[in-house]
Amino acid sequence: MTASGAVSGSAPVDSLPVDFEFTDAEREELAATLAAVSVSPYRLYEAFMFQVATLIDRVPPRFSEFVATLADRDRRRQPWILARNAPIDRDVPVFDHDEPVRSKYETKTTFIAEAFLALFGIMRGTPAIGYINVNDGDVFQDIYPKRALAASQSQKALNEIYFHKDLANHFVRPDHVYMLGMRNDPINEVYTTLVRNIDILEALDEPEKKLLRRSDFYTPFDDLTVSSRNCKLGDACTHPILSGDTDIRFFEKRTMGLTPAAERVVTRLCEILHRVKFRQFIAPGDFVCVCNNYAVHAKEVVAVHDEESLRTRWIIKTVNVDDLEPHQQYMIAGTHHLVNG
Ligand SMILES: [Fe+2]
Repeated sequence: MTASGAVSGSAPVDSLPVDFEFTDAEREELAATLAAVSVSPYRLYEAFMFQVATLIDRVPPRFSEFVATLADRDRRRQPWILARNAPIDRDVPVFDHDEPVRSKYETKTTFIAEAFLALFGIMRGTPAIGYINVNDGDVFQDIYPKRALAASQSQKALNEIYFHKDLANHFVRPDHVYMLGMRNDPINEVYTTLVRNIDILEALDEPEKKLLRRSDFYTPFDDLTVSSRNCKLGDACTHPILSGDTDIRFFEKRTMGLTPAAERVVTRLCEILHRVKFRQFIAPGDFVCVCNNYAVHAKEVVAVHDEESLRTRWIIKTVNVDDLEPHQQYMIAGTHHLVNG
């Protein structure tokens, strides 16, 4: 993809190319297969993952072939994937606005969406991880508004979430963010917006890149991590925004420059982000994967015509890594998926 597909202003367009689309028959067949998993991932995670892993041979062959092609992708140039018409749980009741996660535990009795996310993670060799400070360690998390966090910059926000890399200043940074659309009323123009890091770098000049490589920036820990009482993290450190070839560690409106020049380059970065962004309306069954080290993402609220349904917008997500080994030292002893932080 080239940057020419990027949107500016408020044009409500779907701009990601579709990489794969399940036929209705394939979707139904896979949903029926995944429905065989008999335990809740929120109560018996290990058993859930074990059961999902036994279903790999029953995946529609066309999807298996597609997943196999992903290993050869150039993540810098194609840092996202869009698959459509994936199997999900239909007719799940609206969750309580005050306690959406608790409400999910009580009312969601099938786990098709979670099983699909788990299956894809296994097929692609990218294990999902949870954080003890985020939803008490759940691997399957909801982008779902919660009253107490409505104004936060977290997955529970009601309105926009500014551009960021997920868990950018956490000691365990995920390589991937997998998102599966569950409910999104098209009456509201709410988009998942993505920017390729290479498009940002291309727009910057050398002195600006040099500034971004200095440890002259500060980003507070994210709202969800600090709202938990499970593990206290202290204060975040100063950091560079740009490291390696293309890694961008940034949270729009939260990352601050600590010198006047650093502040100026932050302003410039924000301006570029909004110039080269791609927007996607994530409908139910849309599966979007983002390479967290090669792209930044946001939630944009362009127009709200129904406040009530905005409170029920729902995407199930996981964060995943390419390799558990380097992160094992940070896991809660006896687990291979749960980060102590
Ligand atoms: Fe995010």
